[in-house]
Amino acid sequence: MRLLVTGGAGFIGSEFVRATLRGALPGSSGTHVTVLDKLTYSGNELNLAPIADLPNYRFVHGDICDRNLVDDVVAGHDAIVHFAAETHVDRSIDSAASFVRTNALGTQVLLEAASRHRLGRFVHISTDEVYGSISEGAWTEVSPVAPNAPYAAAKAAGDLLALAWHRTRQLDVLVTRCTNNYGPYQHPEKLIPLFATNLLDGQQVPVYGDGHNRRQWLHVSDHCRAIQLVLLDGRPGEVYHIGGGTELTNLELAKHILEACGVGWDMVRHVPDRMGHDFRYSLDTAKIRTELGFSPRVAFEDGLAETVEWYRSNRGWWEPLKSPNEATGSPGDASR
Ligand SMILES: NC(=O)c1ccc[n+]([C@@H]2O[C@H](COP(=O)([O-])OP(=O)(O)OC[C@H]3O[C@@H](n4cnc5c(N)ncnc54)[C@H](O)[C@@H]3O)[C@@H](O)[C@H]2O)c1
Repeated sequence: MRLLVTGGAGFIGSEFVRATLRGALPGSSGTHVTVLDKLTYSGNELNLAPIADLPNYRFVHGDICDRNLVDDVVAGHDAIVHFAAETHVDRSIDSAASFVRTNALGTQVLLEAASRHRLGRFVHISTDEVYGSISEGAWTEVSPVAPNAPYAAAKAAGDLLALAWHRTRQLDVLVTRCTNNYGPYQHPEKLIPLFATNLLDGQQVPVYGDGHNRRQWLHVSDHCRAIQLVLLDGRPGEVYHIGGGTELTNLELAKHILEACGVGWDMVRHVPDRMGHDFRYSLDTAKIRTELGFSPRVAFEDGLAETVEWYRSNRGWWEPLKSPNEATGSPGDASR
């Protein structure tokens, strides 16, 4: 298969590319991968260094909103896995323009090109945040979207456009909506790496509000295996939830990270809550379990310990990415 991966230099996209090219995902051996990535502040070519010399890998530096470039790059591929996005909720509250541009317009540009070149598959990577917030129970794939943050609203726009391309242009589109991910190579502005890197530097960690907001956490390798199952065997036009990880309040999560770093509660400081902060996300994952046989493999305690260890051993990766503001001032992203 000749696969185009947008946003492949980011956290999840690079895990997907590394795993694909190592043949670590089901049915991935022999795949040729092109990465199209703008290398924004959150994209990093170092994330792809482990596979950069493979003959079946190609990197294209560019913007998914660039119609001419996208048209050239899409030609000759069998499928697209579309990760590229602006992803940091707090940044979207400060300024939403780049979120609307990349997450909505960029997705439309890719969909147009995929239709024009009659691509076999288009897997759109979406998020549980499109549903808004749920105090009890769990969303199913037919629950209405009701996003709150500009990030989530722009992701919902891309997600719904992708489904519209299936209905109106018969493009073979599949949408995945996943819970929070964690693992190596995640930018230190996001919650788990922010906490881990602050604590490794002897700095306090900021918890939004009372810390009772709840999130489900899935290891990035489990997310990528689920995407591969959807790519290979998902039904066109369908949405698949990806989750089944561990649900924790932010305080419970903080406790796990403090323990993994060997420090106590004196390293936590509470900061004012984020505007419009979603209280809880929860996905029903019965569909992907029964249709595609997916279940997570990485136990949260093991995955978290390995992740903290990765940040401990890879200072050279994260130190240049960490602004003083991230370490001490801004609370970071309490959901992602
Ligand atoms: N991180 C999570 O917990 C999570 C959970 C569910 C869904 N998702 C979704 O998964 C996808 C990947 O998330 P991530 O955490 O890896 O994000 P990330 O911020 O680490 O990576 C995003 C990548 O997209 C690239 N990019 C941004 N704008 C671009 C543009 N205009 N053209 C080309 N490339 C561009 C960046 O350079 C970067 O490499 C996103 O679509 C996100 O909404 C993330």
